Amino acid sequence: MSTPNRKTALITGATGGIGRSLVKVFHDAGYDVVATDITEKPSDLRCTGYQKVDLARYAQDETYATEINDVLLYILKRRLDVLINNAAIQILGGADTLTRHDWHTTLEVNLLAPFLLTQAFLPQVSAAKGSVINIGSIHARLTKKNFVAYATSKAALAGMTRALAVDLGPRVRINAIEPAAIETDMLKMGFEGKADLYAQLGSSHPQQRIGQPIEVARLALAIASGDIEFLHGACISLDGGIGARLFDPT
Ligand SMILES: NC(=O)c1ccc[n+]([C@@H]2O[C@H](COP(=O)([O-])OP(=O)(O)OC[C@H]3O[C@@H](n4cnc5c(N)ncnc54)[C@H](O)[C@@H]3O)[C@@H](O)[C@H]2O)c1
Repeated sequence: MSTPNRKTALITGATGGIGRSLVKVFHDAGYDVVATDITEKPSDLRCTGYQKVDLARYAQDETYATEINDVLLYILKRRLDVLINNAAIQILGGADTLTRHDWHTTLEVNLLAPFLLTQAFLPQVSAAKGSVINIGSIHARLTKKNFVAYATSKAALAGMTRALAVDLGPRVRINAIEPAAIETDMLKMGFEGKADLYAQLGSSHPQQRIGQPIEVARLALAIASGDIEFLHGACISLDGGIGARLFDPT
């Protein structure tokens, strides 16, 4: 049950690597956390409420989205301080292999659902003078082979973050966090069968390591706190310096 006067956070992709850290950090900071994911609620996820949501369907099917919004509003007791659009899907493939369905799913989960959720909960976040935080990616700016669908979705998410910042003005603060390699299943999936390359990944970051999910969550908590109210429309790199590095074999 939620507690009156406590701040409330709604977090998507809550059972994933970064999602779990977001839930824990916001819960530990005293937020009522309502978590969502496409999976069933894991028994060890400590949150005030949980709702299973398929964000691809949420983006496609207006009736389903309305039902989900109603359920979430009920669980949230019609209050929301922070919406964290964290869920994403990473379908790897290039121009030879990516299907129409791959593109639709990628853009629905990674881009359209964050917009529609922001739109759906605007009255509540606005009333709370709250904040939307989109979890983007370094792939919004710097990418590699076979990431075209994912990279395009994250570049568009960055564009959407900036455009909504202009659109929403002072009503709601909106920002994005753009991590590089963070130690989660999503990252490991991209390195399946490439253990040696995964090992090299850490050392290719100027900080000589991969990032941890809790670092993303702590940055989100700082953004949500409102202590830095002027932070609005920003896409903040959290990349151990790799985005500053020139790869040059000479
Ligand atoms: N791990 C990294 O290295 C890294 C780097 C940069 C950005 N990110 C971003 O961080 C966020 C979290 O990623 P993660 O690393 O924790 O990955 P993850 O795969 O562990 O988590 C993603 C979550 O999104 C959920 N999801 C996928 N499709 C969904 C759907 N249709 N409906 C509802 N939920 C759905 C998954 O079930 C999963 O729990 C993502 O936005 C990702 O793009 C991750």
